[in-house]
Amino acid sequence: MDHFTFRDGVLHAEDVPLGTIADAVATPCYVYSRATLTRHARVFREALSRLPRVHLAFALKSNPNLAVVKLLADEGYGADVVSAGEMARALAAGIPASGIVFSGVGKRGDEMARALAAGIGQFNLESEEEGVELAAIAASLGRRAAAALRVNPDVDAGTHGKISTGKAENKFGVPFDRAQGIFTRLAALAGLEMRGLAVHIGSQLSSLDPLEAAFVKLGGLMRDLRGQGLAVSHMDLGGGLGVPYRAGEHFPSPEAYGAMVARVSRDWDATLMFEPGRVITGNSGVLLTRVIRVKPGASAPFVIVDAAMNDLARPALYDAWHDFLAVAPTGARMTAHIVGPICESSDTFAMNRAIDRVGAGDLAIFRTAGAYGATMANTYNSRALVPEVMVDGARWALVARRIDPATILAAESLPDFLT
Ligand code: LLP
Repeated sequence: MDHFTFRDGVLHAEDVPLGTIADAVATPCYVYSRATLTRHARVFREALSRLPRVHLAFALKSNPNLAVVKLLADEGYGADVVSAGEMARALAAGIPASGIVFSGVGKRGDEMARALAAGIGQFNLESEEEGVELAAIAASLGRRAAAALRVNPDVDAGTHGKISTGKAENKFGVPFDRAQGIFTRLAALAGLEMRGLAVHIGSQLSSLDPLEAAFVKLGGLMRDLRGQGLAVSHMDLGGGLGVPYRAGEHFPSPEAYGAMVARVSRDWDATLMFEPGRVITGNSGVLLTRVIRVKPGASAPFVIVDAAMNDLARPALYDAWHDFLAVAPTGARMTAHIVGPICESSDTFAMNRAIDRVGAGDLAIFRTAGAYGATMANTYNSRALVPEVMVDGARWALVARRIDPATILAAESLPDFLT
């Protein structure tokens, strides 16, 4: 459920007509609903309330906007970060360092040192080599780093290949059959406090079955390690729960996910950690755009909007579907290709899509743009970096201003040899 609804025929974000935001901020622009974010954060927490010990670490990569992270900090969420930059954002938003998990397949030494100095809660190690390096850094700082070993369970998540992470051929985690040996060796290092296992098999999962298969494997490994006398107190089950992108689509609910986790982990006696991203932020945001013009095409007209693949990369990268709705639909429909102004054919949001009839100057939205939207934006074709707005009831605020091409140009300079 979200708070983007029609009132008197006009699409609103909570109590704010989207036209108000377009007039004030201009388009394209992301619009987030505070009430939707809060609701999703609470629904996910509630779904896990039957589990004895839970730590929720919001995956910042899905939406690292400071206001979004602050809202989740206020909801008691920790953070899952993958760079020193994300860690700085989590801390700036008020998430205590002890609630932050540092994931990521290529943590640099300087980043690990900074995270240790900040007092980060846990490192999720992606290789034995990384663990050895972290142990040395921690020892040199007179510390012990709390860590979990990320295991690659070789389970097919059944999602898009580019966002699948739990197959043996993926770069993530250590191979399942080598995990016990690696954990044992890392647990013997003075700089590490090996306390758990971690898994994350992919994103936008449409079935709980692969997650369950991965968790069962992880539970078996936990038992084997404990059988050796090693302490395994934390089990990080990652993120990955999918959300509907098309009206009418159905995905496993957080409740069903929580029930599955409760069943699988009932005799684990461990703190369960979760790294939800999309399930919290996905349907909490839309990308507001204006139609520049409609151009006749061979099979269908091209609706050229002022948003482009640099603002919302998902369709170009993953052939992702985002519902497209007019802000003030007349009831008339058309079949069209929806494209942006960028000079390549991958700048296409949809082909032969049945949509509300729109014309030059009309406002429209791409739905479910709150996750992996603004954060993946760039300035290709010397376009501006897209701004972000948060709505709260009848109030709204700019939470990331537009960064103009002139600002980016100002960061460049000519070398002496060209002047
Ligand atoms: N934990 C780890 C270790 C991850 O790699 C990810 C996502 C998450 C948690 C959060 O997953 P979520 O709950 O959001 O599915 N840009 C792609 C998605 C990439 C996901 C990367 N990892 C997209 O737009 O679909």
